[in-house]
Amino acid sequence: EKKGYDHFMLKEIYEQPSAILDTFRGRLLPNEGIIKMSGIEDNLSKFLNANRIVIVACGTSWHAGLVAEYLFEDLARIPVEVEYASEFRYRNPVIKRDDVVIAISQSGETADTLAAIKLAKSMGAFVFGVCNVVGSSIARETNAGAYTHAGPEIGVASTKAFTTQITVLTLIALRLANAKGTLSTSDYKKCLFDLEAIPRRVEEVLDVNDQIVKIAENYSDVANCLYLGRKYNFPVALEGALKLKEISYIHAEGYPAAEMKHGPIALIDEQMPVVVIATKKGNYEKIVSNIQEIKSRRGRIIAVVTQGDTMIKEMADYAIEIPETVEFLTPLIATIPLQLLSYHIAVMRGCNVDQPRNLAKSVTVE
Ligand code: M6R
Repeated sequence: EKKGYDHFMLKEIYEQPSAILDTFRGRLLPNEGIIKMSGIEDNLSKFLNANRIVIVACGTSWHAGLVAEYLFEDLARIPVEVEYASEFRYRNPVIKRDDVVIAISQSGETADTLAAIKLAKSMGAFVFGVCNVVGSSIARETNAGAYTHAGPEIGVASTKAFTTQITVLTLIALRLANAKGTLSTSDYKKCLFDLEAIPRRVEEVLDVNDQIVKIAENYSDVANCLYLGRKYNFPVALEGALKLKEISYIHAEGYPAAEMKHGPIALIDEQMPVVVIATKKGNYEKIVSNIQEIKSRRGRIIAVVTQGDTMIKEMADYAIEIPETVEFLTPLIATIPLQLLSYHIAVMRGCNVDQPRNLAKSVTVE
């Protein structure tokens, strides 16, 4: 049921505030100052004694894993590696008993991710699953886990699964930070309230939809698009590019903004749209200078900025303002306009948004 929306993807984009609330339910208790997740509590010592965390996933779930790398290292000071499940499984990886492996999968049926889990288990690692589909193969194969509770995701392009995966991983990172003492009790409690406010911020950011329709009108005929971001916004850039290529068939690439001068800058001319995620926190000055470099080569800039920004708004062809939040929660907000941008461009190009060519919702063969 599309509930009045033209496509499942759009419905699922708009469901994100309530999907994130469902992910919180019974787990996030800011007034009490606690996070309760049985899969974590039951295995807390495994996480606390972990030598490192290895995350395995594919596609959008791999991007959520990259966000988690920043979260776990930044908040809980646990070293993290993020691996494409397909590479991990064939690489003869070094996995020890005190490694914790987190597998992320919306469907819970992705063949490469499932094989990576089996391999990690055979080498003695504890494997924790973050899945959306209850009772799926990955949910059953893992030693423990936490569901995202996003509800069914029908659109092939993942949207609410991504933001709810990040939500679960944020809950885990905060819980571990609290247990390890890497966050003070008062900072921890403040983080819980910041997280609790995210569904409202997502609701607000959905108001950019009309503006994005207008931007999409000017970009629906482009052949290429570059997405740039730094720190927490780097995985957001990768995800923005994946969404655009999947459903609109426009060639798009995501890069860490500073890598631009190591190659992609050669592509920039007046034909080249560059989407820059340039929120206030996250190396703002550095990203401003990246934008200047693009401008001086006459690139067309769409910037995602924090509400009230003035500097980047003057430089960009289009600036999409999003509500402010603490840095580690920015991906949950900054992703939304990029989902909408790819959606509207794909619709204008007459593409089959919910079932793009050549793609399947779950990739059960390698
Ligand atoms: O079900 P999974 O999360 O394991 O799927 C992984 C990828 O196949 C998936 O994220 C794919 O990249 C999506 N089409 C992205 O929108």
